[in-house]
Amino acid sequence: MREFFHRRLERSAIGFVLAIIGVSAIGGFVEIAPLFTINETVEKAPDMRVYTPLELAGRNIYIREGCYACHSQMIRTLRDEVERYGPYSLAVESKYDHPMLWGSKRTGPDIARLGGKYSDAWHVAHLINPRDVVPQSVMPKYGWLMRNELKVDDLGLHLAAQRKVGVPYTDAMIANATADAFGQASPDGPYAGGVSERYGEATNVRAFDGEPGRLTEMDAVVAYLQVLGRLTDAAHSQSAAAGK
Ligand code: HEC
Repeated sequence: MREFFHRRLERSAIGFVLAIIGVSAIGGFVEIAPLFTINETVEKAPDMRVYTPLELAGRNIYIREGCYACHSQMIRTLRDEVERYGPYSLAVESKYDHPMLWGSKRTGPDIARLGGKYSDAWHVAHLINPRDVVPQSVMPKYGWLMRNELKVDDLGLHLAAQRKVGVPYTDAMIANATADAFGQASPDGPYAGGVSERYGEATNVRAFDGEPGRLTEMDAVVAYLQVLGRLTDAAHSQSAAAGK
């Protein structure tokens, strides 16, 4: 009976084309349908702040160096992942990530909840030579991050571009982007106060690379790594509410 049905279907060109369209539309519908309810399904995170210019610069370097090829930033709702990495990722946590860096391969561990796990000095040593702190590591060295001065003159434009795609940067944040990048990495300098004022008291303001006098790419990358999973507490409060 089934064979008979198939034979008839395959012999009718138009019927077969319609059947193919019908079947592939199911896949499309399954992907598109959740978007209709996105406003209700994405969690609220009123405490969420945007990336500072320095963190954003670090994020760009993370993309430039291809770190995402070995590291994911998306903890799935599976028990082994939650036990290893912490509360699973919420959609809202990626709301200011353009482009998102969830990744699809884990040669190294997931780093969605990395912020605060290690000291700045650990990150600097690890990026210069991973084997110095994790002897069995296969991660490449990134020593030049410490040698390269950070390029800051285009950070205002970068913030403005992010605002175009929906990140709520204010005019003051855009106008002060370069000063804020310097300020965040030199806590005793004249620009540090502006960073806490614009991005909140909880923002890390310190010499990330251990050298307050210089602003290096290392400062930017470490500032970025230290804020991963820390822009909002939403995931932590949700798992607390669930009694985990
Ligand atoms: C070729 C794959 C590869 C690339 C590319 C890579 N890593 Fe890694 N990374 C690893 C591996 C493997 C580990 C685990 C061993 C270790 O800690 O060094 C790791 C560990 C880490 C850790 C420690 C995570 C933890 O929770 O212990 C951090 C932080 C990190 N990498 C950051 C970076 C950054 C930043 C870049 C880009 C500049 C990068 N990685 C590029 C493979 C990679």
